[in-house]
Amino acid sequence: MTAVKTGLNRRDFLRGTAWMGVAAVAAGCRLNRLGFGEGGVMQDYALKPMKRVRVGFVGIGSRGTAAVHRVSMLPGVEIVALCDKKPERVALNQNWLKANKYPVVPKPYVGEEAYKNLCDLGDCDVIYCATPWALHQPVALRALLGGKIPFVEVTSALTVDECWELVEASEKHRIPCMQLENCCYGEMELLGLHLARLGMLGEIIHGEGAYIHDLRVVCSTGGKNGEWEWRYDENMKHKGNRYPTHGLLPIMQAMDINRGDAFDYLVSLESKQANCENYRRYAMDADDPRRNDPVMEMGDMNTTLIRTKRGRSIMVQHDVSSPRPYTRVNLLSGTKGIWWGMPWRTYEPEPTVFKVGFEQEVGKGVHRFMKDADAEALREKYAHPLWKKVGEIAQKVGGHGGMDFIMDLRWAYCLQNGLPLDMDVYDLAVSSCLCELTETSVRSRSKSIDIPDFTRGAWRTAKPQGIADIDIARMPMGDVRRDEAALNV
Ligand SMILES: NC(=O)c1ccc[n+]([C@@H]2O[C@H](COP(=O)([O-])OP(=O)(O)OC[C@H]3O[C@@H](n4cnc5c(N)ncnc54)[C@H](O)[C@@H]3O)[C@@H](O)[C@H]2O)c1
Repeated sequence: MTAVKTGLNRRDFLRGTAWMGVAAVAAGCRLNRLGFGEGGVMQDYALKPMKRVRVGFVGIGSRGTAAVHRVSMLPGVEIVALCDKKPERVALNQNWLKANKYPVVPKPYVGEEAYKNLCDLGDCDVIYCATPWALHQPVALRALLGGKIPFVEVTSALTVDECWELVEASEKHRIPCMQLENCCYGEMELLGLHLARLGMLGEIIHGEGAYIHDLRVVCSTGGKNGEWEWRYDENMKHKGNRYPTHGLLPIMQAMDINRGDAFDYLVSLESKQANCENYRRYAMDADDPRRNDPVMEMGDMNTTLIRTKRGRSIMVQHDVSSPRPYTRVNLLSGTKGIWWGMPWRTYEPEPTVFKVGFEQEVGKGVHRFMKDADAEALREKYAHPLWKKVGEIAQKVGGHGGMDFIMDLRWAYCLQNGLPLDMDVYDLAVSSCLCELTETSVRSRSKSIDIPDFTRGAWRTAKPQGIADIDIARMPMGDVRRDEAALNV
C-alpha cells in the first residue's frame, strides 16, 4: 500500500517554516517538524521534588468528580481549585469535600472561560482536566503557558496540529504534560508490562488493544438528559478511532514505543453504522426528535493497524455500539509466548524438550489455553510490583478496579520525589493524533498514512522505561487530611 503524504499544515506556514517541509519532500523525507522546541527533549525529564502538590480541577462532571474523590485521599496533595462551566458541579464537589472534612477550601472558578483564569493566575502546580474531548487540548496548552503541569483525560488532543502545539509548548516551557491513561495501571496491563520487562515474552512482535464498550445509551443519544451531548456530537460528525488510548498505551509501553521503536504508518478500516441506528429505532421514545437525525458518521467497528519502524505490528479497535461484552483485548505476542489479558488466558504448558515462553513446547498446545488454576498461579507469581504493593488499597478506593487510584498515586509519587512521569508529551501526541489520522485513512479507502515522529528521532536513543514502583514511606504523609490510617497502609 502506498503512504499518503501528510500535507503542509497551517501552522508551518504561519511560522514561516514551510520551506522546511518542502525541502523534506524534495529529499524524500517525512514531513515532521525539524529540531526541538527551545528547551530540548522531554523524555525522562523530571521537575524538582515537590513536597506539596497543589491541584486545580477543570471539568468536574462524572469523571472529574470521581477524580476529586480519589485525589482528596492522596498524601501530600491538595485540591486548591475547582472549575466547571456549571456552578452546580462546583458546588456539588465543594460540598462533598466539606462534608468529608477536607482541610482546604478550593477556590471556585465558574463559567465557560473560567479555566483560562485558573491556568493563567491560579495558585496551583497541576491542572487536572476532565472536560469533553474538544476542550482537552486548549486547557492543556493554556496550563503549559501558565506554567502549570497539565494532566489530561483521554483522548488529550484531536488533531496532529494540536499534538504538535502541546509537544512544542512542553519542550519550550520545560513542563511535563501527561495524558491520564489509567489503563496502564490495570492489574492485567501491569502484568503484561512486567512479563515483557522480565523478557518472558521474548521479542514482542505484535500487540492488540481495543476499546470495546457497549455505550449505546451514551453514544446513540447523548444520554437521557443530554448530559453526554458532546459525545453524541463527536460520533455524529466523525469516523475513525476517537478513543484509541485505552488499548494502545499499555502496548506502547511494553513495546517501548518512543523509546527504542516508533510508529511508522497506519491503515484504518471501518464498518458501516448499524447498532446506533437500531437503538434509535427500537429503544428511543416515538416522539424523540433524534429519530430523525441523519445516520451517524461513526461506524460500529473501527480497526486500525499500525506498523512500527522496527517492523512490529499493532491492531487497535474501537466499538462503542455493538452488543458484546466489554474488553480492551490486551494482547502481546512475542517470540517466546503470549499475554492475553482480557479475558486472562495463555497457553497450556506441555512437558517439553524445546521450551519457549510459558513452558510451551513448540507446535504443541496450540489448540488449548492454560488450565485456569495454572493461569491464576502465573498471574499471582508475576504480578507487577506496583500492583502487589498497592493493588489491594486501590481496589478498596475503587475507580475501574483500582487502576485510577494507582495512576493518581503514581503521579503524586513521581512529582514528590523528582521522578519523570510515566507518560510524557510524546506518548500523548503519538496516541492522540490517531483521531485525525484514522479518520483520514477511513475516508480515503483505508490508505496508509504516515504517523508523525513527535520525538524527531529521539526515540532511537531514549532508554526504555523502568518498572514503575512506589515506596509509600517516601510520600509526605500527614500534611494533608489523609494520612497513613486513611490510606490503610
Ligand atoms: N479514563 C477513563 O477511564 C475515563 C472514563 C470516563 C470518562 N473519561 C473522559 O473524561 C472526560 C469527561 O467525561 P465525563 O463522562 O465526566 O463527561 P461529563 O460530561 O460528565 O463531564 C464533563 C464536565 O466538563 C464540564 N465542562 C464543559 N465545558 C467546560 C468548560 N468550558 N469549562 C469547564 N468545564 C466544562 C461540564 O460541565 C461537565 O461537568 C472525557 O474526556 C472522557 O472521555 C475517561
